Amino acid sequence: MKTAIIFSSKHGTTEKVAGILAENLGKENISLINLKKDKNPDLNAYDSVILGTAIYAGNPIKNIKSFALKNESNLKNKKVGLFICGMDPGKEKQEEQMKASFPDSLMQQAKTKHYLGGEFIFEDMNFFERFIIKKISKAEKSISLIHHENIKKFVEEFKDEENPVET
Ligand SMILES: Cc1cc2nc3c(=O)[nH]c(=O)nc-3n(C[C@H](O)[C@H](O)[C@H](O)COP(=O)(O)O)c2cc1C
Repeated sequence: MKTAIIFSSKHGTTEKVAGILAENLGKENISLINLKKDKNPDLNAYDSVILGTAIYAGNPIKNIKSFALKNESNLKNKKVGLFICGMDPGKEKQEEQMKASFPDSLMQQAKTKHYLGGEFIFEDMNFFERFIIKKISKAEKSISLIHHENIKKFVEEFKDEENPVET
């Protein structure tokens, strides 16, 4: 069973979370694919695909959604997991952002989908981002709120062979 974890990350947190998922899923037979570097990965080599994106201004990074839409029919025959990384603590907002990130068909088909937390790393932000985040979040220092509990749930649900997805 080969798995691809395909992600879109601007400042590296989603990439970090994708790496933690890979470690927890057992690493071998897992390919980590950064859509910024590998724009058109071939999905035929994989039985399972996990898609993840960071959220900016309520929306996913554009290339993940267009990749999902372009590969919608190919993804139909695979085990799919979806995740988002963000800093909005509100459950409803997280759900809205998840919906905004992936096509409906994948949302319904996904074996697991979770909000996996995020980070504010001020050193990596540009002036404009730093200004906005300081204003909105009132955060003064970098902060890591990666949601390890949800990562655990994600891995358990994704691995669960008792309830295989019907393809
Ligand atoms: C300018 C800016 C806007 C953001 N907007 C949102 C948002 O609307 N909702 C949210 O949950 N997180 C938001 N975030 C937090 C990011 O999603 C978070 O920092 C995430 O960890 C970034 O992942 P990345 O490092 O993989 O790009 C925003 C961050 C920045 C810098």
